[in-house]
Amino acid sequence: LVQGAMTKLVPLAPDSWIPGGVPDPLIQHKHGLIGAAVSRLDGPLKVKGAAPFAAEFRFENMAYCALVYATIARGRITAIDVVAAEAAPGVVLVMSHLNAPRMNKPPAFGSTPHGVGPADLPIFQDDRVHWNGQPIVAVLAETQEQADHAAALVEVAYAAEPSTTSLEGAKANGIAQGLFMGQPLLNEIGDAESALAQAAVKVDALYRTPRHNHNPIEPHAATIAWVGDELVIHDASQMVTQQAQTLGEVFDLTPDQVRLTSPYVGGGFGSKGLWDHQVIGAAAAKMAGRPVRIALSREGVYRVVGGRTLTEQRVAIGASADGKFEALIHTGLSVMSPHNNMPEPFILGTRAGYACPNIRLQVEVTQMNMLANTFMRAPGEAVGTFALESAIDELAVALAIDPVELRLRNEPEKDPTTGLPFSSRHIDKAWRDGAARFGWSDRGAPGARREGEWLVGTGCATGTYPYYRMPGAEARITLRRDGDGVGALVEVAAAEMGMGTSTTTAIVAAERLGLPLDRVEVAYGDSAIPGAIMAGGSQQTAAIGAAVIAAHNALVAELLTLAGNDSPLAGLSAGEVGSEDGGLAKLDDAARRESYASILARAQRDEVTVTKAGTPPLELMHWSMHSHSALFCEVKVNAVTGETRVSRFLGAFDCGRILNAKTAASQFRGGIIMGLGLALMEETQFDERNGRIMNPSLAEYHLPVHLDVPEIDVIWTDIPDPHTPMGAHGVGEIGITGVGAAVANAIYNATGRRVRDLPITLDKLL
Ligand code: MOS
Repeated sequence: LVQGAMTKLVPLAPDSWIPGGVPDPLIQHKHGLIGAAVSRLDGPLKVKGAAPFAAEFRFENMAYCALVYATIARGRITAIDVVAAEAAPGVVLVMSHLNAPRMNKPPAFGSTPHGVGPADLPIFQDDRVHWNGQPIVAVLAETQEQADHAAALVEVAYAAEPSTTSLEGAKANGIAQGLFMGQPLLNEIGDAESALAQAAVKVDALYRTPRHNHNPIEPHAATIAWVGDELVIHDASQMVTQQAQTLGEVFDLTPDQVRLTSPYVGGGFGSKGLWDHQVIGAAAAKMAGRPVRIALSREGVYRVVGGRTLTEQRVAIGASADGKFEALIHTGLSVMSPHNNMPEPFILGTRAGYACPNIRLQVEVTQMNMLANTFMRAPGEAVGTFALESAIDELAVALAIDPVELRLRNEPEKDPTTGLPFSSRHIDKAWRDGAARFGWSDRGAPGARREGEWLVGTGCATGTYPYYRMPGAEARITLRRDGDGVGALVEVAAAEMGMGTSTTTAIVAAERLGLPLDRVEVAYGDSAIPGAIMAGGSQQTAAIGAAVIAAHNALVAELLTLAGNDSPLAGLSAGEVGSEDGGLAKLDDAARRESYASILARAQRDEVTVTKAGTPPLELMHWSMHSHSALFCEVKVNAVTGETRVSRFLGAFDCGRILNAKTAASQFRGGIIMGLGLALMEETQFDERNGRIMNPSLAEYHLPVHLDVPEIDVIWTDIPDPHTPMGAHGVGEIGITGVGAAVANAIYNATGRRVRDLPITLDKLL
């Protein structure tokens, strides 16, 4: 052990972040794995096919489930003919509202602390049809093919009732204030309309974004068994504990009667929650007395799993001649169903975006008879920044000011809507570093650059995504003797959608404990683990981080007690020691040290376990906290066909300290790729005559494929936020945020054509 400046000793971290507090010492810890490019620890298992996904679990005597989907948007089921289906080979059960077990309605997301139902609708309990595509009959059979075949033989008769399936019809029915998490989506500061009217220069335009469907590579699935009175479900979930609780409420079970696991998830993006299929599968398993696997087809995902809803947004900005914003208006409409809680909150990113004395932000909602829409990566921000950041580009043109410069001139000193100081905002550095690396200054006038048939242009945009830390996270750390040393098991009720959470958790825990990475195991994705952490809102790493800090502090205190009077650490308190090299040492006298193995051996213990909850997220009351991005895009637009090719993309991110360079870069790149789809391709085709989704397949719903994606350069400021665990902000949702506008602005620069209606397909450029 080297003393003094060279020491790698990590002191204990504070367990809360409030003004005057000290930062997490891991921020200063530059020796170890934090920030290095560490490959996902679950990667080899996935490549070998050895990581079991939800539809790969298997129970003895399992039956397979297929669904029949309603073909009207609203009304009643008057008859179901199941004779042919029941007689088909291999059929075990045909279940509908006529024979399904009685179940409670799942509490809708946001309606109770743990409720994560898609809507407040009962499932298979009555003859009501609420959307075109609603599952109404389930068929169990010995094989999936037999179930699919028999489902095709079911005949359903309906009494259709008047429905609202067009945007114009919905608006005619009424418009209401949008509520997000119970709060009105409304901000008013000063008098924005008057300031706009008086501004020297202004833009005022309407932007439209379409529906988007979720398309994770792993379609939604669950493998379900009743073991006595216990419901066991292997699911694909990004909200493991909450889903178990909600299923418990549906089936009148106590929390310990539901066991939900989800060790591996093939992408979620907001969609891997509770939908009708898990409830139907569990009900069918109960009724048939057999385990059930329900794996949605890709079409099934479109019928059962909601996506991002459409928006119409007005952005108006008034500025002085030197480009200072005087008025900022971002208002509009989002569509939802009568039964869910999710207006697409497109103003969220605008709230902390720019300095402006007069701000008006509002999301209103109108209702259609459709599948409940839901969260999709950066819900709100992804489409809100398309409108806002396109409008800023339009203003830059009107002012003849470079759009990077215009944004820098309007950088806020403090949060413009809450008045709170920023905890860590270095977006100016992201802009400058990104512009230099991209070669932004080489830009031409709109339509000025041409390479043969191709018009070439560049555009930029920015994004902000809030830092959150949901309460309820706990961590359990078990330190146990293992050969000649010790190993640690870190258990968190978290979810891994493939973004690297389990790897990052292992890295952070290893650094905190002073153990090598291969001595730390992370367990997650199991409702039996205490606490509740959700992979949502880009907050999971912070939530886990705070829980691990709390548990680690308790563990060190426990170890010092166990060490006793014969230890070199005798008499020291937890605040006086740090972790390093498989043991604890005195901070200012590292010669006083003892290994974990030695402490456990002297105390005659094989292991020590502590469980502790993270502290409440008080930091959110004191600072305005966000991830930030500065995005640069180059496009080539074919002057003959109108086809757009993205030829270069650079994202410069300011997201606090980056914990794993490899998985963070993947999050940024993946988000940007999803943003390229939003900009150029993705659109759910919703038949306004009958509410049917018309393109429920990857053949017809277009996503970027490899040939659509250029090399994407990502850089980051890597400036730690002293007010968060590990100095980190979220990296999951900032990546997509702003990409739609960066592409649209580049298309404008290439062609002189401003498209305010996503996706920017070639017909809009001809
Ligand atoms: Mo995200 S839309 O919080 O999975």
